[in-house]
Amino acid sequence: MLATADGQRAYVANTFSDSISIVDVASAKIAGQIALGMQPPLSKAERGELLFYDARLSHDGWFSCHTCHPDGHTTSLLNDNQSDGSFGTPKRILTLRGVGDTGPWAWNGSMPDLERQVRTSIEKTMQGTKPTSEQVSDLTAFFANAAAAASRRPAGPGCRCRRRWLGVKRSSRSKPASNVMCRPCIRRPRRMMSA
Ligand code: HEC
Repeated sequence: MLATADGQRAYVANTFSDSISIVDVASAKIAGQIALGMQPPLSKAERGELLFYDARLSHDGWFSCHTCHPDGHTTSLLNDNQSDGSFGTPKRILTLRGVGDTGPWAWNGSMPDLERQVRTSIEKTMQGTKPTSEQVSDLTAFFANAAAAASRRPAGPGCRCRRRWLGVKRSSRSKPASNVMCRPCIRRPRRMMSA
């Protein structure tokens, strides 16, 4: 976010819509919108990404998936929810990284497919209203692929792809971190990445 020198307008980059909102600070109202290029229709996984960060899926807007699974990982805290049909049995919040390959799901292995787990997360853990089949499959398409499995760090140095980032001086001794990926690599399937 940037503010004008007189403090009357603020320019806010909108993470999920590739746009900038111009906010009139005094009235706290949106005074204008700047689109950052073409806005193609959202893919299934992109629609799922919006839902992943949307607290409206939960009772009274308590939390979103991201609250307990930040950026698809875990807070590592214990949470006593109704997903296992019991109360008084707190469970460690599981990471969603690579979760598409680790069925059956839930600590007790009672979830034979991911979509059923997602429904349970919304209806029992988040006490939200019944989701549509499309919402469930969009959400699953988002976090079951690499988009949620990796850091959301913006494009830049540090990724193991060793791209030559414009304007970034790279020391020949700098070693890319193995757990950091730049945005273009997150979007590409793993097998296409140069190691
Ligand atoms: C209040 C915290 C919390 C929220 C919010 C939450 N989860 Fe979870 N999630 C958990 C806990 C705790 C577990 C372990 C549950 C169990 O084993 O019964 C879990 C387990 C899961 C699993 C199974 C992982 C595995 O390896 O078996 C998936 C998938 C999942 N959550 C997806 C989601 C999605 C999608 C949302 C949003 C719709 C969500 N969760 C919201 C706490 C949360």
